[in-house]
Amino acid sequence: MNATTPTLLYQHLADDVASMIASGTLRPGDKLPSLREMRTRRQVSLTTVTEAFRVLEDRGLIEARPQSGFYVRRRPPLPLPAQSSPSPEPSLVSVNALLWRYMRIAHAGTFGCAVPAAELFPGAQLQKLTSEALRRHSHLLSDYGKPAGLDSLRRQIARRALGWGGRLAVDDIIVTNGCIEALSLCLRAVAQAGDVVAIESPTYFGVLQLLESHGVKALEIPTHPVSGVSLEALELATRHGQVKACLLTPNFSNPLGSLMPEANKRALVEMLAERNIPLIEDDIYGEFHFGRERPLPAKAFDTCGNVLYCSSFTKMISPGLRVGWVCGGRYQAKLEVLKYINSFTTPALMQQVVAQFLESGFDRHIRRLRRACADQVAQTIDGIERYFPAGTRLNPPQGGYVLWVALPEGANAVALMETAAQENISLAPGALFSAREGFANCIRLSCGAPWTPQQANALRRLGELVDANLQDT
Ligand SMILES: Cc1ncc(COP(=O)(O)O)c(C=O)c1O
Repeated sequence: MNATTPTLLYQHLADDVASMIASGTLRPGDKLPSLREMRTRRQVSLTTVTEAFRVLEDRGLIEARPQSGFYVRRRPPLPLPAQSSPSPEPSLVSVNALLWRYMRIAHAGTFGCAVPAAELFPGAQLQKLTSEALRRHSHLLSDYGKPAGLDSLRRQIARRALGWGGRLAVDDIIVTNGCIEALSLCLRAVAQAGDVVAIESPTYFGVLQLLESHGVKALEIPTHPVSGVSLEALELATRHGQVKACLLTPNFSNPLGSLMPEANKRALVEMLAERNIPLIEDDIYGEFHFGRERPLPAKAFDTCGNVLYCSSFTKMISPGLRVGWVCGGRYQAKLEVLKYINSFTTPALMQQVVAQFLESGFDRHIRRLRRACADQVAQTIDGIERYFPAGTRLNPPQGGYVLWVALPEGANAVALMETAAQENISLAPGALFSAREGFANCIRLSCGAPWTPQQANALRRLGELVDANLQDT
């Protein structure tokens, strides 16, 4: 035998495995045959196989896992492009057929709705508290109650705000029918039809719907997937008095999951106060942090009442309660009138249940929910790395439970939504998150459900549908 033969053999073997990885026959996370199996299959020595695997390891293509063998190495996900680049012109919003189509199918399958799965909510405790509230406080059904809400609930909300440095009195809070009513009241308080409101790009489609219903124009501001709205772009956009208000989600935005650094929040609040432009802050995901500390909301830096802070218990306790709240700062009196005009009150029974749950049970529950969401997001990212085609991009968020995924160029997310729906897999296509239907190759995946083999299968299948979608284009 020629002295160079063993070298060629191990190189050939390494090249063969490398090309199987390149073609996708072997995918990230797949287990390779054992050294002995490989030796038998290829009829080579154990040394040749060991050497080939060493070469593949050096090339970063495979990895050894203790006591388990060799695996095709996972690709860390490519990050998203630096920031979005929406149109610099404000536009009227027209929520179109796509949203209604999405609404019809989003509930049918996994990854669609941005809400934790029912089993993660404290169902039994809420049932018990509801029966108790009915027994002990029957007037909750026979009275309208105060438009601003139950004092007991507002006291609990004010107490909890201390956790993020908020010094709120009971009367600084108005209870609303979910966060969406809080946002809607704020928009009415600060803007009129035809005004321009600056928003993130991409932004939650519910906000786009609100802008449409108020006849307000959307100015989409470039937004970074990690650090949120671009302060430079916002500074430019708000220089000449055209922008009447900003509506932003600084903590774990939907759909990006971005988190504005504290320094940016402070600068944002100061700049808008100087320019007398109110900031409507949506902090519905503030409690869903994966790190130890709850991120401060922009409201924590508000010294003159220019921030209208909105949130709800929808994602934390249960969506069916429809209990949210707003702290309107210097717009508080106006908001109280608007709340009365809009819906009189928020059902007092539900408020009482939330107040009781906040008093006992909530802290433990939210810690568990946070951990579950962090785990579900990590598992979904892992699955995307394994099952989605090369060129897929995302940034692991630091909180929340939605993932914004940019599929390789040419993917058609709306078509993907339709094919996936036929197999009971749901997702939100990127076009829903922009007034101008951008983000054609992006999808939002909700990781609200516990990770199960069914979830893993659905994600694997979705990866195959993405492959097919790319081949169709
Ligand atoms: C960012 C954001 N704001 C507001 C809402 C609406 O909240 P609620 O159901 O409490 O009205 C949602 C719901 O998905 C959301 O994602």
